[in-house]
Amino acid sequence: MYGIFHVEIQHYIETQYGRDLWTAILKRAGLKNRIYMTVSTYLDSEVVEIMKAASDLTGVPVETLLEDFGAFIVPSLMNTYEPLIDPKWSMADLLLNLEEAVYRVIRTRSPGAHPPRMTFERVGPHQLRLHYDSPRRLPALAVGFVKGIAVYYDETVDVQTQKNPDGSVDIMITMITYG
Ligand code: HEM
Repeated sequence: MYGIFHVEIQHYIETQYGRDLWTAILKRAGLKNRIYMTVSTYLDSEVVEIMKAASDLTGVPVETLLEDFGAFIVPSLMNTYEPLIDPKWSMADLLLNLEEAVYRVIRTRSPGAHPPRMTFERVGPHQLRLHYDSPRRLPALAVGFVKGIAVYYDETVDVQTQKNPDGSVDIMITMITYG
């Protein structure tokens, strides 16, 4: 996974819980003295190990940490990938164009990055269904992304998650303030 995730997890932990906890998390996760850089790629498993250690040390469930972190990283991703995002887009436009306009370019230009295959489908004037079926199985992170994007676009959203028997997840997004 792209280093921006690891760098931002450090930023997230340090902002929410302080620098000492970050040092303790790295130690507990067997990653003592690890330094993350945005320009590198690192193992996905390090994200999971860091979140498990963070959960052990804070008592906050891993799912809650992942969701919170998903919302936290949105402004930084939107900033990094700004040239790919049409400023005229609404939240719904961004989601419906994400694969074509953003992820396709990331896949081509950054061979180390493997953004998830997701489909967004409009199911009503104010409602989109996101089908998330990544082998990384990080649906809580996906929910956090949705919530962070809503904050970015100043939208109020209701997000309902349904787990499917095949391990994929459907996320129903209702945009309450969508004009
Ligand atoms: C609601 C919208 C979005 C959702 C639900 C979402 C979800 C996710 C999830 C869950 C991952 C972790 C990898 C995985 O699960 O396989 C991921 C990776 C990623 N996403 Fe998104 N994302 C969204 C929008 C965006 C946007 C707007 C950007 C950029 C502006 C972005 C850039 C990335 C990048 C760079 C990665 C890392 C891929 C890698 O390093 O392998 N995502 N996304």
